Amino acid sequence: MKIPESVHLIEHPLLKHKLTMLRDKNTRSKEFREITEEMAMLMGYEVLKNLPLKKKKVITPLERTTGWQISGKKLAIIPILRAGIALADGLKKLLPMAKTGHIGIFRDPKTLKAIRYYHKLPKDIKKRLCILVDPMLATGHSAKAAIDILKKEGAKTIKFLCLVSCPEGIKEITKYHPDIEIYTAVVDRQLNDHGYILPGLGDAGDRIFGTK
Ligand code: URA
Repeated sequence: MKIPESVHLIEHPLLKHKLTMLRDKNTRSKEFREITEEMAMLMGYEVLKNLPLKKKKVITPLERTTGWQISGKKLAIIPILRAGIALADGLKKLLPMAKTGHIGIFRDPKTLKAIRYYHKLPKDIKKRLCILVDPMLATGHSAKAAIDILKKEGAKTIKFLCLVSCPEGIKEITKYHPDIEIYTAVVDRQLNDHGYILPGLGDAGDRIFGTK
C-alpha cells in the first residue's frame, strides 16, 4: 500500500530487532511486556520530537549556562485497555509529568465491532496533547472509537501510537480521522478473517498479561 502522509513509519534497527522478538511465539509474557515498554520509549522519541522548549538557566559544577526545558503543551497518555497499558507504562517513564486517561474498548469476536465500556480522562483534556496508544492497529474500529471519544470530550491534538499496523486499519483511521497522525513500527500484510494481523504477533493483550 502507499502509506498516507499522516502515517509515520518509524524504522530503526533496534525497533526491528525488538519487534522480531515480539513476533516470536516463544517469547514469554514478562519479556513481551518489557520489550513492548522499551519500544514505546524508542518510538516516543519520534512522536515527541516537536515538543516545544523554553530556555532554562542552569548552574553546572563549573559555570552558569542556559539549557532547555520542555514547555507549553501538557500531555496525556491514553491507553486503550487493556493491551495499551504496556505502551503507556513505557511512555510514562519518558514523561513522568504526563497525566493518564483510560479508554476501555473490546471487540466483539463475531462482528469485530468496537464495544466501548469505560473511559476516564484528565479533566483538562482539551488543553493536552493526547497520545493514544494500542499495540495493534488491526481493523481500526477500536482506535476510531477511541478517537471519537477523545474528540467528543474536546481533545484537539491527538497522536496515535501503535507497534504493528496493517492497510485495513490505516484506511479506517485515515477515512474517519484524517487529521490524526499515526506512528507505527511496521505496516504488516493484511488481516485474517478473525481480525488478526498477519504475520503480526498474535493477541497482544493475552501475550502482555499471560492470559492464554
Ligand atoms: N489485536 C491483537 O492483539 N492482535 C491482532 O493481530 C489484532 C488485534
